[in-house]
Amino acid sequence: MTDRIKVLIVDDIPETRDHLTKLLGFENDVEVVGAAAGGPEAIEMANALRPDVVLMDINMPGMDGITATEKLAQDVPSTAVIMMSVQGEADYLRRSMLAGAREFLVKPFSSDELTASIRQVWSREKDKQSRFAPVAPAADVRSNGSDEPAMVAAVFSPKGGVGRTTIAVNLAVAAAQTGKRVALVDASFQFGDVGVLLNLNPRNKSIADLAADLKGEELDSFDAFMITHSSGVRVLLAPPSPEQAELIGPAAVKQVLQKLRNEYDLIVVDCPSSFNEPTLAVLDEADVILTLLTLEITSVKNMRLFLEVSEQLGYEPDKIRLILNRADSTLGIRVADVESSIGRKVEHTIVSDGRSVVYALNRGVPFFLSNREAQVSQDIQRLATAITGPAPTAASTTATEKAAKAAAKNKSLFAWR
Ligand SMILES: Nc1ncnc2c1ncn2[C@@H]1O[C@H](COP(=O)(O)OP(=O)(O)OP(=O)(O)O)[C@@H](O)[C@H]1O
Ligand SMILES: [Mg+2]
Repeated sequence: MTDRIKVLIVDDIPETRDHLTKLLGFENDVEVVGAAAGGPEAIEMANALRPDVVLMDINMPGMDGITATEKLAQDVPSTAVIMMSVQGEADYLRRSMLAGAREFLVKPFSSDELTASIRQVWSREKDKQSRFAPVAPAADVRSNGSDEPAMVAAVFSPKGGVGRTTIAVNLAVAAAQTGKRVALVDASFQFGDVGVLLNLNPRNKSIADLAADLKGEELDSFDAFMITHSSGVRVLLAPPSPEQAELIGPAAVKQVLQKLRNEYDLIVVDCPSSFNEPTLAVLDEADVILTLLTLEITSVKNMRLFLEVSEQLGYEPDKIRLILNRADSTLGIRVADVESSIGRKVEHTIVSDGRSVVYALNRGVPFFLSNREAQVSQDIQRLATAITGPAPTAASTTATEKAAKAAAKNKSLFAWR
């Protein structure tokens, strides 16, 4: 096999190095190119051997795994580091991610876990490199009939409860009114709220049903798993129960988004705030990450950390757009303070409007449809325009009115409540 994954093992304990080398010796697609006993040796070997993946122990005498990872990220950026630790604490994980590690394994781990992580990290890295490699623009022949490339817009925030679902739903609805084909994916796989906001709850129609069918084969179309909302948005819901979230791994997430690119102009993804593998897959695959924050000190702090992590992940600064939600509800922090704290400008603001937003939520009709004149709807419109381009004015008003009527009619069905 020509394309074997070159792995360098770094651990101060000789038995661990031997054990890992033996374990990986059974894998046909993995080649252990070396083993280092400490940070400095690891950097030297990585520079010489250019491994695809480095298995790095976090606790080593002298230079620890985190410092070694930071150095490797500078010296050999094409190498992906998997951190290994006996401690699974959030702080270790966070520091590893900030240092540039791609994955975190808590010891003891099984050989399946180890090889799955190596393959996953490697394929993600290869994917990223091929995306950044200069390629001649090919004629785009998408089955949606458009020659404009599709856009995946992830709505993310490193803190919960800041309005991701609210904005994702209304943004998708606003974009659909301009005649775009819009898909809305609820990637909050454990506790997805998109179905509640849109009053949709059919059985056997969620990403969990789709993921089961994805295994090992290419589905022609996802149509059967998507629900059409009266606004025209096609929705891929999160699983109905939290335990089904496990069915959806990062590979399935990527496959789904790549497939949807062929059929839609805009794919809006509502992400959870947790930084797990499936979320990372969404963020990797996204063209833009609409990153929400509010005027709260915790939101600002988490945003700063996220911006650092995103840099380590190799995201271009352009990929991240900062959206300030509830921008007018100032309680001691000003927008300028936020901007100077995170070192970036806020690109869009959305006002706070509890009346429209909560009323819409409780009725299961997006406020963009039920209260089109409100400032909060206009802010969403501006955001949609910035992402997808301007709307054809007269037609969009009529389309919005039609969709509002249809949504109000549907509301009486009370599919969810
Ligand atoms: N611009 C706004 N004005 C007033 N209320 C808002 C606004 N945006 C969001 N909210 C309210 O804030 C709360 C959280 O919003 P939402 O559920 O969209 O956030 P989230 O980031 O998706 O949260 P979760 O972490 O639960 O997924 C909701 O009650 C919502 O109605
Ligand atoms: Mg949410």
